[in-house]
This record gives sequence, C-alpha cells and structure tokens, in this order.
Amino acid sequence: MENTPLAPKKVSESHTVMTEMIMPNDTNPIGNLMGGYLMRWMDIVAAICAGKHCEANVVTAAVDHISFQKPIRLGDVITLEASVTRAFTSSVEIYVEVFANDIKGQNPRRCNHAYFTFVALDDDRAKPINVPAVLPLSSEEQALYDSAARRREIRLVLSGRVKAKDATEVRKFFLDM
Ligand SMILES: CC(C)(COP(=O)(O)OP(=O)(O)OC[C@H]1O[C@@H](n2cnc3c(N)ncnc32)[C@H](O)[C@@H]1OP(=O)(O)O)[C@@H](O)C(=O)NCCC(=O)NCCS
Repeated sequence: MENTPLAPKKVSESHTVMTEMIMPNDTNPIGNLMGGYLMRWMDIVAAICAGKHCEANVVTAAVDHISFQKPIRLGDVITLEASVTRAFTSSVEIYVEVFANDIKGQNPRRCNHAYFTFVALDDDRAKPINVPAVLPLSSEEQALYDSAARRREIRLVLSGRVKAKDATEVRKFFLDM
C-alpha cells in the first residue's frame, strides 16, 4: 500500500450515535422491526464511524454473528452506537450496540450488538489503503482492542482467507471441532 497512514486516533474521535423511530413501513406482519432493516441501520452507523476513523471511503467486508434477542416494536425509539475497536492494515473493526425504549423513554433495553469489518479504499475506490491505528484509553476500550485480533482471525478462517491450520490464536478451536 502506498499511502502513509494518519496519526493514531482515539476511539472517541469517531464514536457515532444514530437514532430512529420505528414506523409502520419498518415492521413485519406482527408489528416488530424487521431484522433486515435493523441490519441496514447497523451497517450505516458502522460505516459512518469507520469512514470518520479512516478519513476515507470504506466498504463492508464482513459482519459477525447478529442475534435478535429482544423484539423492537412499532413506535419504539432505537439508538445505535458505533465505536472503532482496532485497526489493522487496511481494515478496521467496528462494534455496534443497539438500544431501544418507547417514545416516553420507558422500558429501556439493549437489543443487539455486532462486530463489522470495513476496508478503507483510495479515492478511486479501487485499492485498499493503510488506516490509522486506534489508541485505546479506557479498560473497556483496551479489552475490545485486545480481543479484536482473535475475532479477526476467526472471521478470516470462516471466510476461507486463512487456513485453520495456519491460524495462531484460534487454531486449536477449529482443529478440535
Ligand atoms: C473488501 C475488499 C475491498 C477486499 O479486497 P481484497 O482484494 O481482498 O483486498 P486484500 O486482500 O488486500 O484485503 C484487504 C483487507 O480486507 C480484509 N478482508 C477481506 N475480506 C475479509 C473478510 N471476509 N473478513 C474480514 N476481513 C476481510 C483483509 O483481511 C485485509 O485487511 P488488512 O489489510 O487490515 O489486513 C473486497 O473484497 C471488496 O470490494 N468486497 C466488496 C465490498 C462491498 O461491496 N461491500 C458492500 C456489500 S455488497
């Protein structure tokens, strides 16, 4: 990669918050938010966060497991929060959390979370470019930073980009399966 990466950045510099109200067009036939709409908003908030951190065009390369733990109803208000956990060479991992409450602020709950991977591209949107490192400050940021290497290796094995036998941190997990 030809570009010199920007200086390391704090997590707070790209932290992104998005709020939506669930409207009739967003729901399934029983009045809950459609999973696909939630995934779309999660992808958007994560992309904004990744774009801010990298100061570049970004594309979604991978989305880790998402489970829908608590229903979100018509009329609820959801807040999506995205933070960068770690940067590698041209990719960044973004952690997204989704919270919901009703319009009066009652029944607050954490509904979903997922890790997204974005790759930064040059201005021609043709080639991956180097991205700035992440400076974790709090113990929570440090824990997410440390565990990101393991999650990255798992997704590279699952996507077939790394052979399980060549994995370092998670080799035993795959070979014992
Ligand atoms: C993501 C993409 C740019 C990677 O291109 P590539 O030619 O494979 O590039 P590279 O091999 O140089 O890999 C670039 C980075 O992507 C990461 N990457 C690629 N596929 C990945 C995957 N499935 N999971 C996690 N990371 C992945 C690599 O690990 C590498 O990260 P690093 O530089 O930090 O080590 C390319 O696959 C692409 O354009 N995909 C489509 C993206 C898109 O359109 N998304 C929207 C949904 S349709």
